[in-house]
Amino acid sequence: MFTIITGAQFGDEGKGKIVDLMSGDYDLVVRFQGGDNAGHTVKVGEDVYKLHLIPSGFLLNSRVLIGPGTVMNPEVLATEIDMLAEGGIKLDAKRVGVDAKTSIIMPYHIELDGLRESMRSEKIGTTKRGIGYAYIDKVARDEIRMADIVDKDRFLKRLEELAPSKEAAIKDLGGDPSMVMDEALIDKYVKLGERFAPYITDVSYEVNKALDEGRNVLAEGAQGTHLDVIHGTQKFVTSSCTIAGSACANIGVGPTRVDSVLAIVKAYITRVGEGPLPTELLDDIGNQIQQVGREFGTTTGRSRRCGWFDLPLLKKAIYLNGYTSIALTKLDVLSNLDPIRVCVAYDLDGKVLDYPPEDTSELARCKPVYEDLAGWENDLTGVKEFNDLPQAAKDYVFYLEGKMGVHVEYISVGPAREQTFNK
Ligand code: GDP
Ligand code: IMO
Ligand code: MG
Repeated sequence: MFTIITGAQFGDEGKGKIVDLMSGDYDLVVRFQGGDNAGHTVKVGEDVYKLHLIPSGFLLNSRVLIGPGTVMNPEVLATEIDMLAEGGIKLDAKRVGVDAKTSIIMPYHIELDGLRESMRSEKIGTTKRGIGYAYIDKVARDEIRMADIVDKDRFLKRLEELAPSKEAAIKDLGGDPSMVMDEALIDKYVKLGERFAPYITDVSYEVNKALDEGRNVLAEGAQGTHLDVIHGTQKFVTSSCTIAGSACANIGVGPTRVDSVLAIVKAYITRVGEGPLPTELLDDIGNQIQQVGREFGTTTGRSRRCGWFDLPLLKKAIYLNGYTSIALTKLDVLSNLDPIRVCVAYDLDGKVLDYPPEDTSELARCKPVYEDLAGWENDLTGVKEFNDLPQAAKDYVFYLEGKMGVHVEYISVGPAREQTFNK
């Protein structure tokens, strides 16, 4: 069985929680795009794990893989493995694999990301993890790959070949080019390469072989649909394809092998960084959602902007991903709000649209058209099954399901595994 999970909004929908929950049924869990710009939270008992790179299936018995379509900072991988080891979770090369073709995020990518962002008159609000610049190098065929850093001579030769253009780029943006060939940084990468040599693998081969043998594979998306570099709200997007089809292309597995595509959908909407968010609430209600939902970025600590559920954006996400079912998260956060509003269409210069305009500047001008639903006062965090939800919460779920036309399979009412049930 091959299942793909993606975020249907702007990221932080609760992918980490749902991947952890489901990973008990999967032999392999694979990250297929992005890098440590992601922040996926897994809560088990009192333990909370906030991970940027290691796939969220690490707690149960799955082997976790980092695919060749990702951009990988080996220092972050080392930090995460060491942090988990302190808590007694041993992630050796039997449990973690990194594809030989994975692009490595170098310190100069992070430097360039920060410099470029500080110079933009209109900011994107990147995570400053070097993601965009690592992808630029991949496409320009100027990347350093996992297979390069595990071989010291090959790594140094490649770095010397690339250094002049990287130094020029940093200088051009007003930075200090000497960091490119900084000895301490190079030495650190050489050591990381030695450490991770046993982790090298061929992710496409592993995944296809596992599927041939009847084992189960889960592809874990990062970021969210509307941050997709091709289909998202450019320029306010990340630098990778975040939609479900990208899992096949980036892992190297045919689309005919996909069995299901699960959407992670927050019961409202959030966004970190810049870019349009038509239902954004800049009032007490937005503040309440932010506080109750603890909407603060895992990677940068920035406040997440909050808004009512946006159906036009969700419809587009359903088209872009071909979802077979939905996990609706953070329903508990909407308690004590009455009415609960749902954006069913946009008003764009007097025209009513039930699907987002393709151009981002038009989306930025869209005004939400709302339908109001009754709220509820009850705390939902202790609810164990669908039937025990207050009627208004059930009605909200049925309403969204009807409008989306995709089955809601899971409902989440808190960060822990047990705060999840089927509809
Ligand atoms: P991801 O990037 O999609 O994995 O999501 P994040 O982990 O960045 O953000 C989701 C946050 O909401 C995390 O802190 C989760 O622990 C938390 N969370 C997940 N599901 C629920 C839920 O149903 N209710 C509440 N209150 N919190 C949740
Ligand atoms: P997870 O996987 C939310 C946003 C950044 C910025 C834009 C570009 O936790 O859902 P980048 O550093 O990728 O070049 O920044 O994308 N962004 C995310 N927003 N969740 C994420 O990941 C994100 N990863 C990147 O805030 O607006
Ligand atoms: Mg996140």
